[in-house]
Amino acid sequence: MPRIWQAAGDAKSAPLQISSLIDHLDSLAGAALGSRLDETAMLLARVAQDRDCIPSAVLGLSIDPKKMLVDNAHVFVLHQTERYLIRLVVWRPTTGVEDEAFLYEGAHDHNFDLMTVGYTGCGYLTDLYSYQGNGQSLSERETVSINRHGRFQLAPGTVLFLSAGCDIHAQHAPDEVSVSINIICYSKKTFPQHLFEIQSDSDLAVVTAVLASREVHNEQDLMNSLEEAHRARSAHQPP
Ligand SMILES: [Fe+2]
Repeated sequence: MPRIWQAAGDAKSAPLQISSLIDHLDSLAGAALGSRLDETAMLLARVAQDRDCIPSAVLGLSIDPKKMLVDNAHVFVLHQTERYLIRLVVWRPTTGVEDEAFLYEGAHDHNFDLMTVGYTGCGYLTDLYSYQGNGQSLSERETVSINRHGRFQLAPGTVLFLSAGCDIHAQHAPDEVSVSINIICYSKKTFPQHLFEIQSDSDLAVVTAVLASREVHNEQDLMNSLEEAHRARSAHQPP
C-alpha cells in the first residue's frame, strides 16, 4: 500500500545536499526503497529543504546539462546510475490537452517503485488506492478489488512512496506550478502497467488498458513505459 510521510522534513531536519542522498542510494542499492525505506524518506525530505537543490542541478553546476532534459520540458534527470534515477518534475496547473503529458486524472499503477517529495508549490493532489497485485498482468476489462487510501497532497516536505504492481494513483493538476523530486529504483522483476477506471459506487476498479510488461533498467526503459501510458491514456479518453 502507499506510504506517506507527512511533513517529513520538519524544522528539526537540516537541509541536505543531493550528493548525500546519492551516497545513501549508492551504498544501499535496492534496500534504499526496501528495508531502509523510512531512512530514505527522511533523507529525501531533507533534500527538499535545500533551497539550492534545483538551481545547482538545473544550471548544471555539477551535472552535464545535456543529460538533464529527457522526455520533455517538465522532467529533468538530476542523477542516474545503472540502478536508480533521481528526477525533478514540474507539474503545471493546466487543463485540456496538456493534461495528457502529466497523466492527470487517469488512475494507473507503475512498473517501478517510486518515492517522491514535494519541493515547491502547493503540490498536486492524488487519490491513492491499492490492489492485490503480484506482478502478474491483469486483463483488459478485468475487475479488481481495491483498497482506498484517501487523497494526498504532495506539499513541500511530504513524501509519498508507491510500490510497483500494487499501488494505484490518479493525480489532479495543482492550483499552482509545483515541483517534486523523485527517486525511481529499477526493479529486477518485470511488472506490467495498467490504466484503471475507479468505480465510484464500490471498492472496485476496471482495467481499461494493459500496457506491455517491461523491465525498467534505465532511463530509456522508463521513458518508453511512460510514453506507452500516455498513448494508452489518449486512446481511452472519453469522447
Ligand atoms: Fe504515476
